[in-house]
Formats: sequence, C-alpha cells, structure tokens
Amino acid sequence: MSNLHLEDWAASAATARQRLADDLHRPHYHVTAPSGWLNDPNGLIYWQGQYHLFYQHNPHKAAWGPPHWGHIVSDNLVTWQDCPVALTPDMMPSEAGGCWSGCMVDDNGTPTIVYTGVADHSQGEQQTCLAFGSNDLVSWHKHPQNPVVKRPDGLSITQNAYRDPFVWREGDIWYQVIGTSIAERGQALLYSSPDLVSWTHLNLLVPEDIRDTWQDEGHTWECPNFFALGNKHVLIVSLSGVCLQYPVAFVGEYRDQQFYPETMQRLDWGYHCFYAPLTMKDGNRQDDYGRRLMWGWLQEQRSEAKQLVAGWSGVMSLPRVLTLENNKLISQPADELKALRGEHYCYENIELTDGLRDLELTGSALELHLTLRFGKAKEVGLVLALDANHHDGLYLIYNREQAKLRLETSNAQQEKGMWSAPYECPLELDDTLELHVFLDGSTVEVFAYGHSLTSRVYPDSGSQGVALYADGEAYLERLEAWSLKDIWVA
Ligand code: FRU
Repeated sequence: MSNLHLEDWAASAATARQRLADDLHRPHYHVTAPSGWLNDPNGLIYWQGQYHLFYQHNPHKAAWGPPHWGHIVSDNLVTWQDCPVALTPDMMPSEAGGCWSGCMVDDNGTPTIVYTGVADHSQGEQQTCLAFGSNDLVSWHKHPQNPVVKRPDGLSITQNAYRDPFVWREGDIWYQVIGTSIAERGQALLYSSPDLVSWTHLNLLVPEDIRDTWQDEGHTWECPNFFALGNKHVLIVSLSGVCLQYPVAFVGEYRDQQFYPETMQRLDWGYHCFYAPLTMKDGNRQDDYGRRLMWGWLQEQRSEAKQLVAGWSGVMSLPRVLTLENNKLISQPADELKALRGEHYCYENIELTDGLRDLELTGSALELHLTLRFGKAKEVGLVLALDANHHDGLYLIYNREQAKLRLETSNAQQEKGMWSAPYECPLELDDTLELHVFLDGSTVEVFAYGHSLTSRVYPDSGSQGVALYADGEAYLERLEAWSLKDIWVA
C-alpha cells in the first residue's frame, strides 16, 4: 500500500476518533476502534521493532457483524497508531460469516495470519484459514488453498464450535490448538504441520480422562492460548456457557503432545467483562525479551441500543505481563505504562475514621497506587467516580472477615438498575491492603496481589471525585495518583 494511501487512512481514523472525543465514557489510554465495534484481540506480534495488535472489528456500526481484522501498531506498547483494516470477509459463501479470531506467526520472514474463516450464517462452518502479509503488515492476501483445516468427523464436536487457532513452532514443526466443544464440554484439539498448509490432527490437547477431573462451567473453550512459562505450561481458555463468559488458566505439564493440568484459576474476577484474552511472547530484545504479554476484550455492560447510539463499542485491556509463582498465574500491568503518567498527586499518613474521606483529586483518566492499613476497621477501600453529594460512586472495598475484595458498580451507573452485580475476588490479607487501579472513562482495571478485577462503569459527568473509605479507624500509609495521557499518535 502506498504511503499516501496510508496517510489518508490515518487521517480518516483520526477524524473518526475526534468525532467521538467528547463522549465521557470513551477511554483515553485504552485501545478502542476508531469507531464501530471491537471484540477479541487477534494476531499479536512484535515485528521489526514494533508491536502489532489486531482485533475483531465491525467498521460499519457499533454492533457485532461479520468480523474484519482492525489493526494498530506501537513502538513502545503504550502509544498507538491506527492502520488500515487488515482482513475483510470475502463475500463468497465460504467466508461470508467473517474473519473470526486467530493469531499471527513469522514463517521464515513472511508474516502469516492464521484465522477462523466462517461460512455463511446459517451453516456457520468454522475453519482455519491463512493470510500472508506485506513486510509492513499493511497489505494482506488470503491463501488460495483456504481453508487449510476443517472440523474433523467422528469426534462429536458441537456444530459451530471449532475456532480460534493458536499456533507456535517447535523446531521445524508447527503446532496449532483449536478451541472446541465435545459432547457439550470445552476442549482443545492439537494439530501439527510442516508448512502451515497441510495439518495433521494429533489428539485432544487434554486427555479425556484428565479432562474429566476438571470441572469448569464452559460448554465451549474459545480462544485457547498454549505456551511454556517457567518450567510449566499454561493453557488459557475463554469459557463460553449458558449466560456466562470468562477466561480461566490451567497450569501443568506438557508431555508427549498432551497437556496435564495441575491447577485451574480464574484469570480476572470481573465476570462478563474481561474476555477472549490473547497472549504473545515479547520479541523486543531491548526490553524484557521473552516475557508473556496479554490483552483481553473489555465488553460493554450497557444496552445494544446505547452502544449503537454511542457509535463505538468495546475496549482492549491494558497490556498485562504474566508470570508464574507456585503454579499460580500472576498478572500485572506492563511497566511501560508509566510513560503515560502526567500530573502527580501524593497523600501520606492520613488517619481515617468512619465513612468517606474526600481527596482533592478528581478525574476520569487516572492511575492510583495506594497502601491502606486496617487498624480497627472491618472494611477499607477506595471510591472513584464519586459525585459531590456522595450519592454515586464506584466502591472498591476489602472486607476482612469475608477475605474478599469487591467492586461495586451499581451506584456508578447513569442507567440505574442495569446489570451490575458486585464483583468479588477472594484474597487473604493481614494488616495492609495494597491496590493498583486504572480508571479510564467507562473502564476500571484493578490489580492486587497478582489478581485482576476488571469492569465497565458509566458514571454521570459530575461524578469524578476520589475518596478513601473505612468503616472504623484505619490508616492511609500512602496514595500516589497520576492523570494519564492519551495514547493515540496521529
Ligand atoms: C470470542 C469469540 C471467538 C470468535 C470471535 C468472533 O469472543 O466468540 O470465539 O472467533 O469472538 O468475533
């Protein structure tokens, strides 16, 4: 694609963003689509000195539709630039349902997208397809032999549950796991290939008898990720079930091309919000080479009608770094995000008594880092998006007896009564609570002791206050906060 065309494209994306800039609920430092719909992260890769993130996208309206692949690029993991849409569904029956989720690999210098091509809606056949990119990852051509993998016969695979290829290489051999549902239960299928084009089905990734010992609520495993971390292997899957959607991670051993989980954990405690995460190995040698990065889709929690009126839908989480401690997957915001810090606020050594203690700090694009000591209080916490009368607010509270950190969003919503059960994360603590919180328009991400709790909230324009909360005598050791800058490079 010529430079001129690229510039035109960047200018039109910037105009689209500008048009939505006054929307109070539009994040400033989280990735969104220029306009229209965004869901899963796709095709993550560090390519020739830059991070590329693709995403499920409907450029035509703020509703899911036959997915395209949107595309953004970054030099530093923090500021991003819009690139032209990478994949568009071909209007032939084999792919009219769209280019669903997948990944990207470097095939000896050729950037190659491995995605799910979906046939027309009625049959919805899902199959693995390939697309090759130009060196700048801007122009893409679909492989003439698509689809390269089809749903196998004879495995009782549920119709329309065969998608989201995740591919890696060991020596000369490519491997692929595909998310599926067998007899109404989530599974992943393992394949191998010498060339990315001809694939052999090896086996179920998790042996059937071992799978029996793990009870999860999903009837389908969507968006599998499978990778080595430390001396273990990790399988992340997004559970899709009746009225539920959330991702879990299994940690265990990989032997003889089968995976034996030893632990299972939730990946985020914000039910129905953080979904379809995709990870990549960081290829940036000047940085933490080899670390595992993850992004997830932060789903809207407001009505479809409101999303259509807003003209945009869907947010990408902040980049998170995954590490392993005692078979537990720890997720933390990437350090690079510190580059976004603007105005700085600091509070120290404040005695708290019953109720709220306002801070002279307001905003809707904030990072906060705080340490509270419980003293005699049973509950302590932080309140964001607070209005002047203390009617509305987003409460992040730790309850000592219950040993739970909970996020209450119901009083921080323009539309009262919308679905907003409290989110709770079990957490055993002694005398102190340390929280790392990111608030951005309608997005809140909380990190505590390796756990994350993510939600969407839609406060009123007057609700931008910050306060501390205790239900007895407690103590703030230190709170640092920063207003964070915008991430879009024109
Ligand atoms: C997960 C998912 C994937 C699928 C994509 C379609 O959110 O359902 O399984 O490929 O979204 O947009």
